[in-house]
Amino acid sequence: MESPAAQHPEARQAETQGLGVGMVGYAFMGAAHSQGWRTAARVFDLPLRPAMAAICGRDPDAVRAAADKHGWAAAETDWRALIARDDVQLVDVCTPGDSHAEIAIAALEAGKHVLCEKPLANSVAEAEAMAAAARRARARGQRAMVGFNYRRTPAIAQARRMVAGGRIGVLRHVRVTYLQDWIVDPEFPLVWRLRREQAGSGALGDLGAHIVDLAQYLAGERLVGVSALTETFVRDRPLPGTAGSGTAARGPVTVDDAALFTGRLASGALASFEASRFAAGRKNSLRIELNGDHGSLAFDLERLNELSFHDHTAPAADSGFRRILVTEPDHPYLEAWWPPGHGLGYDHTFVHQARDMVAAIAAGTDPEPSFEDGLQVQRVLAAVEDSAEKNCVYTPVPA
Ligand SMILES: NC(=O)c1ccc[n+]([C@@H]2O[C@H](COP(=O)([O-])OP(=O)(O)OC[C@H]3O[C@@H](n4cnc5c(N)ncnc54)[C@H](O)[C@@H]3O)[C@@H](O)[C@H]2O)c1
Repeated sequence: MESPAAQHPEARQAETQGLGVGMVGYAFMGAAHSQGWRTAARVFDLPLRPAMAAICGRDPDAVRAAADKHGWAAAETDWRALIARDDVQLVDVCTPGDSHAEIAIAALEAGKHVLCEKPLANSVAEAEAMAAAARRARARGQRAMVGFNYRRTPAIAQARRMVAGGRIGVLRHVRVTYLQDWIVDPEFPLVWRLRREQAGSGALGDLGAHIVDLAQYLAGERLVGVSALTETFVRDRPLPGTAGSGTAARGPVTVDDAALFTGRLASGALASFEASRFAAGRKNSLRIELNGDHGSLAFDLERLNELSFHDHTAPAADSGFRRILVTEPDHPYLEAWWPPGHGLGYDHTFVHQARDMVAAIAAGTDPEPSFEDGLQVQRVLAAVEDSAEKNCVYTPVPA
Protein backbone atom coordinates (compact mmCIF):
# COMPACT_ATOMS: atom_id res chain seq x y z
CA MET A 1 0.00 0.00 0.00
CA GLU A 2 1.98 3.08 -1.16
CA SER A 3 1.21 6.37 0.49
CA PRO A 4 1.20 10.04 -0.58
CA ALA A 5 4.09 10.34 1.88
CA ALA A 6 6.18 9.00 -1.00
CA GLN A 7 6.74 12.68 -1.77
CA HIS A 8 8.72 13.02 1.47
CA PRO A 9 12.51 13.15 1.08
CA GLU A 10 12.85 10.17 3.43
CA ALA A 11 10.50 8.23 1.17
CA ARG A 12 12.59 8.94 -1.92
CA GLN A 13 15.69 7.75 -0.09
CA ALA A 14 13.90 4.47 0.61
CA GLU A 15 13.99 3.75 -3.10
CA THR A 16 17.50 4.91 -3.77
CA GLN A 17 19.96 4.62 -0.91
CA GLY A 18 20.69 4.03 2.73
CA LEU A 19 19.25 1.74 5.30
CA GLY A 20 15.56 0.97 4.80
CA VAL A 21 13.64 1.00 8.08
CA GLY A 22 10.31 -0.70 8.72
CA MET A 23 8.50 0.07 11.97
CA VAL A 24 5.74 -1.93 13.68
CA GLY A 25 3.35 0.08 15.91
CA TYR A 26 2.71 3.78 15.47
CA ALA A 27 1.29 5.18 18.70
CA PHE A 28 3.43 6.62 21.52
CA MET A 29 6.77 4.95 20.78
CA GLY A 30 5.99 4.81 17.06
CA ALA A 31 5.75 8.60 17.02
CA ALA A 32 8.90 8.98 19.13
CA HIS A 33 10.91 6.56 16.98
CA SER A 34 9.64 8.24 13.79
CA GLN A 35 11.06 11.48 15.14
CA GLY A 36 14.38 9.70 15.60
CA TRP A 37 14.51 8.17 12.12
CA ARG A 38 13.36 11.43 10.50
CA THR A 39 15.93 13.58 12.25
CA ALA A 40 19.10 11.54 12.86
CA ALA A 41 20.67 11.98 9.42
CA ARG A 42 19.66 15.63 9.28
CA VAL A 43 21.63 16.43 12.43
CA PHE A 44 24.47 13.91 12.52
CA ASP A 45 26.78 12.94 9.69
CA LEU A 46 25.76 9.30 9.36
CA PRO A 47 27.60 6.72 7.27
CA LEU A 48 24.22 5.33 6.14
CA ARG A 49 21.02 7.33 5.68
CA PRO A 50 17.98 5.79 7.38
CA ALA A 51 15.14 5.67 4.88
CA MET A 52 11.63 5.45 6.34
CA ALA A 53 10.44 2.67 4.05
CA ALA A 54 7.26 1.33 5.69
CA ILE A 55 5.19 1.42 8.84
CA CYS A 56 2.88 -1.33 10.07
CA GLY A 57 -0.37 -1.33 12.06
CA ARG A 58 -3.53 -3.39 11.98
CA ASP A 59 -6.09 -0.76 10.93
CA PRO A 60 -5.58 0.17 7.23
CA ASP A 61 -6.93 3.73 7.45
CA ALA A 62 -5.20 4.53 10.72
CA VAL A 63 -1.84 3.14 9.59
CA ARG A 64 -2.00 5.08 6.31
CA ALA A 65 -2.79 8.27 8.23
CA ALA A 66 0.12 7.54 10.58
CA ALA A 67 2.44 6.96 7.59
CA ASP A 68 1.52 10.36 6.16
CA LYS A 69 1.77 12.13 9.48
CA HIS A 70 5.15 10.71 10.45
CA GLY A 71 6.76 10.57 7.00
CA TRP A 72 6.81 6.87 6.10
CA ALA A 73 6.79 5.90 2.42
CA ALA A 74 4.40 2.97 2.67
CA ALA A 75 1.99 1.29 5.07
CA GLU A 76 1.43 -2.40 5.80
CA THR A 77 -1.26 -4.11 7.88
CA ASP A 78 0.65 -7.32 8.63
CA TRP A 79 4.08 -7.21 10.26
CA ARG A 80 5.09 -10.33 8.31
CA ALA A 81 4.59 -8.40 5.07
CA LEU A 82 6.67 -5.55 6.49
CA ILE A 83 9.52 -7.91 7.33
CA ALA A 84 9.34 -9.47 3.85
CA ARG A 85 9.78 -6.12 2.04
CA ASP A 86 13.02 -5.80 0.04
CA ASP A 87 13.30 -2.11 0.94
CA VAL A 88 13.35 -2.93 4.69
CA GLN A 89 16.75 -3.83 6.17
CA LEU A 90 16.00 -2.87 9.77
CA VAL A 91 12.81 -3.68 11.70
CA ASP A 92 11.90 -1.37 14.58
CA VAL A 93 9.51 -3.03 17.06
CA CYS A 94 7.26 -0.48 18.84
CA THR A 95 4.42 -2.76 19.92
CA PRO A 96 3.40 -3.97 23.41
CA GLY A 97 5.61 -6.66 24.95
CA ASP A 98 3.46 -9.64 23.99
CA SER A 99 4.53 -9.35 20.34
CA HIS A 100 8.21 -8.40 20.76
CA ALA A 101 9.58 -11.95 20.68
CA GLU A 102 7.58 -13.16 17.68
CA ILE A 103 8.26 -10.07 15.54
CA ALA A 104 11.92 -9.64 16.52
CA ILE A 105 12.83 -13.30 16.01
CA ALA A 106 11.03 -13.44 12.64
CA ALA A 107 12.82 -10.27 11.53
CA LEU A 108 16.23 -11.59 12.62
CA GLU A 109 15.60 -14.90 10.88
CA ALA A 110 14.64 -13.00 7.73
CA GLY A 111 18.06 -11.32 7.74
CA LYS A 112 17.02 -7.93 9.14
CA HIS A 113 18.64 -5.80 11.82
CA VAL A 114 16.29 -5.22 14.77
CA LEU A 115 15.67 -2.39 17.21
CA CYS A 116 13.19 -3.55 19.86
CA GLU A 117 11.46 -1.46 22.51
CA LYS A 118 11.87 -2.28 26.17
CA PRO A 119 11.31 -4.38 28.16
CA LEU A 120 12.85 -6.82 25.69
CA ALA A 121 10.10 -9.38 26.31
CA ASN A 122 7.36 -10.43 28.69
CA SER A 123 9.30 -13.34 30.19
CA VAL A 124 12.83 -14.67 30.64
CA ALA A 125 12.06 -17.56 28.28
CA GLU A 126 11.04 -15.18 25.49
CA ALA A 127 14.06 -12.96 26.13
CA GLU A 128 16.35 -16.02 26.00
CA ALA A 129 14.90 -17.01 22.62
CA MET A 130 15.39 -13.44 21.36
CA ALA A 131 18.98 -13.28 22.59
CA ALA A 132 19.70 -16.65 20.93
CA ALA A 133 18.20 -15.40 17.65
CA ALA A 134 20.33 -12.24 17.93
CA ARG A 135 23.47 -14.36 18.48
CA ARG A 136 22.72 -16.42 15.36
CA ALA A 137 21.99 -13.24 13.38
CA ARG A 138 25.19 -11.59 14.60
CA ALA A 139 27.18 -14.35 12.94
CA ARG A 140 25.52 -13.25 9.68
CA GLY A 141 26.44 -9.59 10.28
CA GLN A 142 23.06 -8.44 11.58
CA ARG A 143 22.70 -6.15 14.61
CA ALA A 144 20.11 -6.10 17.40
CA MET A 145 19.53 -3.45 20.07
CA VAL A 146 17.02 -2.75 22.86
CA GLY A 147 15.39 0.68 23.14
CA PHE A 148 16.57 1.79 26.56
CA ASN A 149 16.57 5.34 25.28
CA TYR A 150 17.44 7.11 28.54
CA ARG A 151 21.04 5.99 28.06
CA ARG A 152 21.00 8.47 25.17
CA THR A 153 20.31 11.50 27.34
CA PRO A 154 23.56 13.51 27.06
CA ALA A 155 23.72 14.06 30.85
CA ILE A 156 23.36 10.31 31.50
CA ALA A 157 26.03 9.49 28.93
CA GLN A 158 28.26 12.15 30.52
CA ALA A 159 27.64 10.64 33.96
CA ARG A 160 28.73 7.26 32.60
CA ARG A 161 31.93 8.85 31.27
CA MET A 162 32.62 10.34 34.69
CA VAL A 163 31.97 7.09 36.57
CA ALA A 164 34.18 5.16 34.12
CA GLY A 165 36.84 7.86 34.50
CA GLY A 166 36.95 7.29 38.26
CA ARG A 167 35.44 10.66 39.23
CA ILE A 168 33.29 9.21 42.01
CA GLY A 169 35.79 6.53 43.02
CA VAL A 170 34.62 3.25 44.49
CA LEU A 171 30.85 2.96 44.09
CA ARG A 172 28.86 2.47 47.30
CA HIS A 173 25.26 3.36 46.45
CA VAL A 174 22.92 3.66 43.48
CA ARG A 175 19.52 5.18 44.32
CA VAL A 176 16.86 5.31 41.61
CA THR A 177 13.19 6.23 41.48
CA TYR A 178 10.89 6.31 38.45
CA LEU A 179 7.49 7.68 39.37
CA GLN A 180 4.28 8.41 37.44
CA ASP A 181 0.67 9.04 38.49
CA TRP A 182 -1.55 8.22 35.50
CA ILE A 183 -3.53 5.41 37.19
CA VAL A 184 -4.15 6.96 40.61
CA ASP A 185 -7.85 7.26 39.66
CA PRO A 186 -9.47 3.82 40.26
CA GLU A 187 -11.82 4.54 37.34
CA PHE A 188 -8.94 4.78 34.87
CA PRO A 189 -9.62 1.99 32.34
CA LEU A 190 -7.98 -1.42 32.13
CA VAL A 191 -5.61 -0.60 29.25
CA TRP A 192 -3.05 -3.12 27.91
CA ARG A 193 -0.39 -1.91 30.33
CA LEU A 194 -2.51 -3.27 33.21
CA ARG A 195 -2.86 -6.79 31.77
CA ARG A 196 -0.15 -9.34 32.38
CA GLU A 197 -0.80 -11.26 29.15
CA GLN A 198 0.02 -8.13 27.13
CA ALA A 199 2.48 -6.17 29.28
CA GLY A 200 4.24 -8.96 31.18
CA SER A 201 4.27 -6.89 34.36
CA GLY A 202 3.18 -3.41 35.46
CA ALA A 203 5.27 -0.56 36.83
CA LEU A 204 8.05 -3.14 37.20
CA GLY A 205 8.49 -3.94 33.49
CA ASP A 206 7.51 -0.50 32.27
CA LEU A 207 9.43 1.81 34.62
CA GLY A 208 11.54 -0.67 36.59
CA ALA A 209 13.15 -2.05 33.42
CA HIS A 210 14.43 1.44 32.56
CA ILE A 211 15.94 2.08 35.98
CA VAL A 212 17.52 -1.36 36.27
CA ASP A 213 19.19 -0.77 32.91
CA LEU A 214 20.25 2.76 33.87
CA ALA A 215 21.65 1.72 37.25
CA GLN A 216 23.69 -1.09 35.70
CA TYR A 217 24.81 1.08 32.76
CA LEU A 218 25.96 3.93 34.99
CA ALA A 219 27.57 1.64 37.56
CA GLY A 220 29.23 -0.43 34.84
CA GLU A 221 28.30 -3.61 36.69
CA ARG A 222 25.36 -5.93 37.20
CA LEU A 223 22.90 -6.67 39.95
CA VAL A 224 23.55 -10.05 41.54
CA GLY A 225 20.49 -10.23 43.83
CA VAL A 226 17.37 -8.37 44.91
CA SER A 227 14.81 -8.12 47.72
CA ALA A 228 11.44 -6.81 46.62
CA LEU A 229 7.91 -5.76 47.49
CA THR A 230 5.23 -5.22 44.85
CA GLU A 231 1.60 -4.17 45.23
CA THR A 232 -1.53 -3.82 43.14
CA PHE A 233 -3.51 -1.08 44.90
CA VAL A 234 -6.55 -1.07 42.58
CA ARG A 235 -7.48 -4.65 41.75
CA ASP A 236 -10.18 -4.12 39.14
CA ARG A 237 -10.89 -1.37 36.64
CA PRO A 238 -13.45 -0.48 33.96
CA LEU A 239 -12.92 -2.25 30.66
CA PRO A 240 -11.73 0.17 27.95
CA GLY A 241 -14.60 1.81 26.11
CA THR A 242 -17.03 1.38 29.00
CA ALA A 243 -15.40 3.78 31.50
CA GLY A 244 -17.63 6.65 32.63
CA SER A 245 -20.80 5.04 31.26
CA GLY A 246 -22.19 4.38 34.76
CA THR A 247 -22.57 0.67 33.95
CA ALA A 248 -18.96 -0.01 33.16
CA ALA A 249 -17.98 -3.67 33.11
CA ARG A 250 -14.82 -4.21 35.13
CA GLY A 251 -11.94 -6.58 34.78
CA PRO A 252 -9.04 -7.62 37.03
CA VAL A 253 -5.74 -5.76 37.05
CA THR A 254 -3.18 -8.54 36.67
CA VAL A 255 0.07 -6.58 37.08
CA ASP A 256 1.80 -4.65 39.86
CA ASP A 257 0.98 -0.96 40.38
CA ALA A 258 4.26 -0.35 42.20
CA ALA A 259 7.51 -2.21 42.79
CA LEU A 260 10.11 -1.38 45.45
CA PHE A 261 13.33 -3.30 45.67
CA THR A 262 16.85 -3.22 46.94
CA GLY A 263 19.74 -4.89 45.21
CA ARG A 264 23.39 -5.84 45.53
CA LEU A 265 25.77 -5.06 42.67
CA ALA A 266 28.66 -7.36 41.78
CA SER A 267 31.20 -5.09 43.51
CA GLY A 268 29.20 -5.13 46.75
CA ALA A 269 27.67 -1.67 46.19
CA LEU A 270 24.04 -1.39 47.30
CA ALA A 271 21.18 -0.15 45.12
CA SER A 272 17.58 0.85 45.77
CA PHE A 273 14.76 1.11 43.26
CA GLU A 274 11.23 2.45 43.31
CA ALA A 275 8.87 2.19 40.32
CA SER A 276 5.30 3.40 40.74
CA ARG A 277 2.34 4.70 38.77
CA PHE A 278 0.69 5.86 41.99
CA ALA A 279 2.96 8.78 42.93
CA ALA A 280 0.39 11.60 42.72
CA GLY A 281 1.91 14.69 41.13
CA ARG A 282 4.87 12.82 39.64
CA LYS A 283 4.37 12.69 35.86
CA ASN A 284 7.53 11.09 34.51
CA SER A 285 9.91 11.60 37.38
CA LEU A 286 13.11 9.63 36.92
CA ARG A 287 15.88 10.42 39.41
CA ILE A 288 19.16 8.64 39.92
CA GLU A 289 22.03 9.24 42.30
CA LEU A 290 25.36 7.44 42.63
CA ASN A 291 27.61 7.79 45.65
CA GLY A 292 31.25 6.73 45.63
CA ASP A 293 34.14 7.29 48.01
CA HIS A 294 35.44 10.18 45.85
CA GLY A 295 32.15 11.85 45.05
CA SER A 296 28.54 11.69 43.92
CA LEU A 297 26.53 12.21 40.74
CA ALA A 298 22.81 12.95 40.52
CA PHE A 299 20.39 13.26 37.57
CA ASP A 300 16.73 14.31 37.39
CA LEU A 301 14.86 13.76 34.10
CA GLU A 302 12.83 16.93 34.75
CA ARG A 303 16.13 18.84 34.42
CA LEU A 304 17.61 16.64 31.76
CA ASN A 305 20.30 19.03 30.53
CA GLU A 306 21.90 19.06 33.96
CA LEU A 307 24.02 16.82 36.12
CA SER A 308 24.81 17.39 39.79
CA PHE A 309 28.33 16.48 40.82
CA HIS A 310 29.98 16.56 44.21
CA ASP A 311 33.77 16.13 44.31
CA HIS A 312 34.48 14.62 47.71
CA THR A 313 38.24 14.98 47.23
CA ALA A 314 37.99 18.80 47.24
CA PRO A 315 38.50 20.75 50.50
CA ALA A 316 35.38 20.38 52.66
CA ALA A 317 35.12 24.12 53.31
CA ASP A 318 34.01 24.98 49.80
CA SER A 319 32.85 21.66 48.38
CA GLY A 320 29.29 20.59 47.72
CA PHE A 321 27.09 19.66 44.78
CA ARG A 322 27.59 21.80 41.70
CA ARG A 323 25.56 21.94 38.51
CA ILE A 324 27.11 20.81 35.24
CA LEU A 325 25.15 22.14 32.28
CA VAL A 326 25.52 19.29 29.79
CA THR A 327 25.29 21.32 26.60
CA GLU A 328 28.94 21.73 25.59
CA PRO A 329 30.08 20.42 22.20
CA ASP A 330 32.38 17.89 23.84
CA HIS A 331 29.56 16.40 25.88
CA PRO A 332 28.08 13.19 24.43
CA TYR A 333 25.87 13.76 21.35
CA LEU A 334 26.18 17.55 21.62
CA GLU A 335 28.68 18.05 18.83
CA ALA A 336 25.90 18.22 16.27
CA TRP A 337 23.27 20.21 18.18
CA TRP A 338 22.77 23.80 19.27
CA PRO A 339 25.25 26.23 20.85
CA PRO A 340 25.95 25.74 24.59
CA GLY A 341 23.03 26.42 26.90
CA HIS A 342 20.25 25.90 24.35
CA GLY A 343 19.17 22.52 25.72
CA LEU A 344 17.69 19.27 24.43
CA GLY A 345 14.56 17.28 25.41
CA TYR A 346 13.00 13.82 25.61
CA ASP A 347 12.62 13.34 21.86
CA HIS A 348 16.35 13.84 21.26
CA THR A 349 17.04 10.53 23.02
CA PHE A 350 15.29 8.78 20.13
CA VAL A 351 17.34 10.69 17.56
CA HIS A 352 20.50 9.57 19.38
CA GLN A 353 19.18 5.99 19.53
CA ALA A 354 18.66 5.97 15.75
CA ARG A 355 22.12 7.51 15.26
CA ASP A 356 23.84 4.89 17.42
CA MET A 357 22.02 1.98 15.76
CA VAL A 358 22.87 3.19 12.25
CA ALA A 359 26.49 3.92 13.20
CA ALA A 360 26.91 0.40 14.62
CA ILE A 361 25.39 -1.21 11.52
CA ALA A 362 27.68 0.81 9.26
CA ALA A 363 30.75 0.04 11.38
CA GLY A 364 29.90 -3.66 11.80
CA THR A 365 30.03 -3.34 15.59
CA ASP A 366 27.54 -4.45 18.22
CA PRO A 367 25.21 -1.70 19.39
CA GLU A 368 24.39 -1.40 23.10
CA PRO A 369 22.24 -2.25 24.91
CA SER A 370 22.26 -5.64 23.20
CA PHE A 371 19.57 -8.31 23.40
CA GLU A 372 21.87 -10.02 25.95
CA ASP A 373 21.64 -6.85 28.05
CA GLY A 374 17.85 -6.89 27.62
CA LEU A 375 17.77 -10.54 28.71
CA GLN A 376 19.81 -9.73 31.81
CA VAL A 377 17.36 -6.92 32.76
CA GLN A 378 14.54 -9.45 32.25
CA ARG A 379 16.29 -11.79 34.70
CA VAL A 380 16.43 -8.98 37.27
CA LEU A 381 12.70 -8.31 36.78
CA ALA A 382 11.95 -12.02 37.24
CA ALA A 383 14.05 -12.11 40.42
CA VAL A 384 12.12 -9.09 41.71
CA GLU A 385 8.83 -10.89 41.11
CA ASP A 386 10.15 -14.08 42.78
CA SER A 387 11.36 -12.12 45.78
CA ALA A 388 8.07 -10.22 46.12
CA GLU A 389 6.13 -13.49 46.04
CA LYS A 390 8.26 -14.66 48.97
CA ASN A 391 7.74 -11.44 50.93
CA CYS A 392 11.03 -9.83 50.12
CA VAL A 393 13.34 -12.85 50.44
CA TYR A 394 16.77 -12.04 48.95
CA THR A 395 16.77 -13.63 45.49
CA PRO A 396 19.90 -14.08 43.36
CA VAL A 397 19.82 -12.92 39.76
CA PRO A 398 21.14 -15.79 37.58
CA ALA A 399 24.38 -14.83 35.83
N1 LIG B 1 11.51 3.78 25.69
C1 LIG B 1 10.53 4.36 26.34
O1 LIG B 1 10.73 5.34 27.04
C2 LIG B 1 9.15 3.78 26.24
C3 LIG B 1 8.03 4.56 26.56
C4 LIG B 1 6.77 4.01 26.39
C5 LIG B 1 6.63 2.72 25.92
N2 LIG B 1 7.74 1.96 25.66
C6 LIG B 1 7.61 0.60 25.16
O2 LIG B 1 7.23 0.65 23.77
C7 LIG B 1 6.34 -0.42 23.46
C8 LIG B 1 5.04 0.17 22.90
O3 LIG B 1 4.51 1.06 23.86
P1 LIG B 1 3.65 2.35 23.42
O4 LIG B 1 3.62 3.25 24.60
O5 LIG B 1 4.11 2.89 22.13
O6 LIG B 1 2.23 1.65 23.25
P2 LIG B 1 0.98 2.22 22.49
O7 LIG B 1 -0.22 1.52 23.02
O8 LIG B 1 1.00 3.71 22.48
O9 LIG B 1 1.26 1.72 20.98
C9 LIG B 1 1.34 0.36 20.63
C10 LIG B 1 1.20 0.25 19.12
O10 LIG B 1 1.39 -1.11 18.74
C11 LIG B 1 0.37 -1.46 17.79
N3 LIG B 1 0.22 -2.91 17.78
C12 LIG B 1 -0.09 -3.72 18.82
N4 LIG B 1 -0.07 -5.01 18.42
C13 LIG B 1 0.26 -4.98 17.10
C14 LIG B 1 0.43 -6.00 16.12
N5 LIG B 1 0.26 -7.28 16.42
N6 LIG B 1 0.77 -5.62 14.85
C15 LIG B 1 0.94 -4.32 14.55
N7 LIG B 1 0.81 -3.31 15.44
C16 LIG B 1 0.45 -3.65 16.69
C17 LIG B 1 -0.83 -0.68 18.29
O11 LIG B 1 -1.82 -0.57 17.30
C18 LIG B 1 -0.16 0.68 18.60
O12 LIG B 1 0.05 1.42 17.40
C19 LIG B 1 6.17 -1.22 24.74
O13 LIG B 1 7.10 -2.27 24.75
C20 LIG B 1 6.53 -0.22 25.84
O14 LIG B 1 7.03 -0.82 27.02
C21 LIG B 1 8.98 2.49 25.78
